[in-house]
Amino acid sequence: MKQPVTVVILAAGLGTRMKSNKAKVLHQAGGDTLLNHIIRAALHVAPPEGIVAVVGHQAAQVRESVKVPGIRFAEQSEQKGTGHAVLCAREAVAQNGGQLFILNGDGPLLRSETLAALIRHASEDNLAGALITTEMDDPSGYGRIVRDDHGHIAAIVEQKAASPEQLKIQEVNPGLYCFKAAPFWEHIGEIQPNNAAREYYLTDMVEILRRHGHRVAPFLVPDATELLGINTRVELAVADGILRARKARDLMLSGVTIENPDSVTIDVNVDIQPDTVIEANVQLRGETRIGTGCRIGTGSVLRDCEIADNVTILPYVVADASRIGANSAIGPFSRLRLNADAGADTHIGNFVELKKTRLGAGSKAQHLAYLGDAAIGEGVNIGAGTITCNYDGQKKHPTSIADGVFVGSNSTLVAPLEISEGAYIAAGSVITKPVEADALAIGRAYQVDKPGWAKRRRESQKQAEKKA
Ligand code: UD1
Ligand code: CA
Repeated sequence: MKQPVTVVILAAGLGTRMKSNKAKVLHQAGGDTLLNHIIRAALHVAPPEGIVAVVGHQAAQVRESVKVPGIRFAEQSEQKGTGHAVLCAREAVAQNGGQLFILNGDGPLLRSETLAALIRHASEDNLAGALITTEMDDPSGYGRIVRDDHGHIAAIVEQKAASPEQLKIQEVNPGLYCFKAAPFWEHIGEIQPNNAAREYYLTDMVEILRRHGHRVAPFLVPDATELLGINTRVELAVADGILRARKARDLMLSGVTIENPDSVTIDVNVDIQPDTVIEANVQLRGETRIGTGCRIGTGSVLRDCEIADNVTILPYVVADASRIGANSAIGPFSRLRLNADAGADTHIGNFVELKKTRLGAGSKAQHLAYLGDAAIGEGVNIGAGTITCNYDGQKKHPTSIADGVFVGSNSTLVAPLEISEGAYIAAGSVITKPVEADALAIGRAYQVDKPGWAKRRRESQKQAEKKA
């Protein structure tokens, strides 16, 4: 029978070296929080109910930031060390048997394959557990792995407590452990805060278990990259770069073309279908979804958008929480925000802004328009310079434009307003009253012509110049 697996993630610390008011695990790399990255990796070895995050600093915000349902939380109200943090999780842990992972919450690069390999090592019969180790050119700040004559781990010595000899050890503890749960819980109470920091060190468990005749084995991972723990914003930037490079590579291997991959910023939760082309300097953020056969033009920034198949986004489009239907063409220099919803085969051109506006299938707004709080039907043409006047200084009002309407250039549509099917708005109109179906509405001053006026003016100017 498969043994139950529990994962305890240590995420209660403030992270002093981040120099931030925000708890360390809330900082983002690759477009998601450090904690969510580690949870994503943990979900490959345990179900959500088997994962306990120990929270402390800004506990409420940290809980809120975790979107996966079912994850459990334990509170460590005072940060008395990593060993104490695990103790705080004890009640929230449903299983006292099986395997127990303990993972530092500040290592966003960890791959799930490495966790799977760790549990295989730790499962060996004669072991009480295993922990990942790696060799670093510059091991400073990390706990050092002290091995005995047999190559077993004798102890983990923290930087502050290490002798000059021990400081030279390059094999370090990245803070990723897998224990057999039973002996671990049996002996965890024996951790003492007998160090300079007066903290309960989880790392003391290696020696404690050893004293009781148990052995914790090292699992040496040669490539230290994925084991990077974030303590400063410099390391945060390094992790961000690695996560984004990984994401771009995964996308390219799955069939997405990325021009100049070093220049794009694509968050880890973005999804893009094959045969879409991402031009240089594009930012794709949040939960953006992009279909197949699309092109995303240079300089565009899309956040939480849904782009259907075969959409062309020309350069410098900024879109937030918006949808674009299949075969549409957007940009250059368009802005969509707050649930803008463009149907299939729509055209939205330069300097057109859509806010909380639905633009029906086949409709066009090609140049210089503001369309806010509007429901626009299918096959509508919005002329250059059209403005929906949705705000009266106090309240926002809706505009409704039915199928097949033609709005002439430079029209001012004063909301609340309803323009019915097939109506035609003359260019330059200010429209303040409902327009009935198939009507022509003209709302502008009539033109007055004065024959010969211009010629007379020129001649009188010429005479004045001669006199001078
Ligand atoms: C710890 C290890 C060290 C290892 C390093 C790897 C100990 C005693 N030392 O040191 O051997 O090389 O990680 O990065 O474990 N946390 C809590 N509650 C606390 C203290 C910490 O939840 O009371 C959490 C932090 O939020 C963080 C993680 O534990 O996610 C590690 O804490 P940190 O203070 O960064 O430990 P290090 O000093 O780096
Ligand atoms: Ca650390």
